[in-house]
Amino acid sequence: MTNRPPLDVRRLRQDFPLLAADPSLHYLDSAASSQTPVQVLEAMDNYYRHFRANVHRGMYRASETASVRFEEVRRKAADLIGAHEEEIVFTRGTTESLNVLAIALTRKLGPGDEVCLSALEHHANLVPWQMAAKVRGFALKVLPLDTEGRLDLEAARTLIGPRTKVVSVAHVSNVLGTIVPVQEVAALAHAQGALCVVDAAQSVGHLPIDVRRLEIDFLAFSGHKALGPTGTGVLWGRKSLLDGLEPVFYGGDMIQEVFWDRATWNETPWKFEAGTPDVGGIIGLGAACDYLRLVGVEVIRRHELELLAYALDKLRAVPGVKLLGPARAEERSGAISFSVAGVHPHDLATVLDTENVAIRAGHHCAMPLLRDLGLIEGTARASLHLYSVPEDIDALITGIAKAQKIFRV
Ligand SMILES: Cc1ncc(COP(=O)(O)O)c(C=O)c1O
Repeated sequence: MTNRPPLDVRRLRQDFPLLAADPSLHYLDSAASSQTPVQVLEAMDNYYRHFRANVHRGMYRASETASVRFEEVRRKAADLIGAHEEEIVFTRGTTESLNVLAIALTRKLGPGDEVCLSALEHHANLVPWQMAAKVRGFALKVLPLDTEGRLDLEAARTLIGPRTKVVSVAHVSNVLGTIVPVQEVAALAHAQGALCVVDAAQSVGHLPIDVRRLEIDFLAFSGHKALGPTGTGVLWGRKSLLDGLEPVFYGGDMIQEVFWDRATWNETPWKFEAGTPDVGGIIGLGAACDYLRLVGVEVIRRHELELLAYALDKLRAVPGVKLLGPARAEERSGAISFSVAGVHPHDLATVLDTENVAIRAGHHCAMPLLRDLGLIEGTARASLHLYSVPEDIDALITGIAKAQKIFRV
């Protein structure tokens, strides 16, 4: 697998309708949402045209086909992260997966207990825990970063203690690009008898992931950031842990038996999937997993790393540009935040749009981090995926120069 040839990016870009239709588009916002290959669109279209029916209920051909195609996505998603298929719970995305965990894992917590998060969390891995803390009375602790935006493992070692019940961290920061050493974090959590949750929204499809090698307990990711459709996601958990958790959503499909005064639950993973799922979307997610596996996530990582190093070098050479996050490309994934002296990030994004360069500007749903960094007005962020090319970075650099000229800085 590791000897696979490098990506044929030019050819592969033809799979992505937006990029194929407009070769002048420099799409540098994959951390917000990736592009979707035609194979994913075709898989969804095939469902809607040829076996459009609800899953798990029908005794007729279309429903049976839909159920089989839907269920086989568990194996595809499991293969992508080194898990077992019965451990894959389908959700609407990382946010929903983390909300489920923040409720389900804290039901028995109370005053005196602690949940640890890192200082680089997206709101999706902060606000659900804040709300649970309010209801249950446990405390939230924030694991600090060092000056380069890396998790301070020494500080983590002292903060994760006997009161800690859950440690929930992002695998990759959507702001700083930092890769968090989740294996080490999980070891610190387990040494204290705590569970380790990983928000993999920015790492699935970018970094090879093996949940068993990482020795973590739960992982969340979104389909739409990993070449799949919007509104789809995964919550992975160790089977024994999922078995021990009460569901969070109730209704059809997640039950075994229902009486007027009580109900019993279906098995894992179905007990966490109440109601009709996004059948077409999940089938699309399966096609995205196939696409990633076919290309090879380790090949994607190699490509992104090369491009990342190129982008960091180019940006560093621009006067007035300040880069955030670790200096070494190897310690990062493909989200590159920066500020340009004298140009508001929103103005920069607007000028870049006139050059057909799509970036994100703002607080990136990580307000506490940006406040800590003294950058509450936000940053500009360019982010990569397997279809990104050096020309995208060159166009970004040209656009920055144009903005500097307009704003006379
Ligand atoms: C690190 C991280 N966590 C969670 C999320 C939330 O993902 P979603 O909006 O797909 O639920 C994002 C989205 O940007 C993210 O970057």
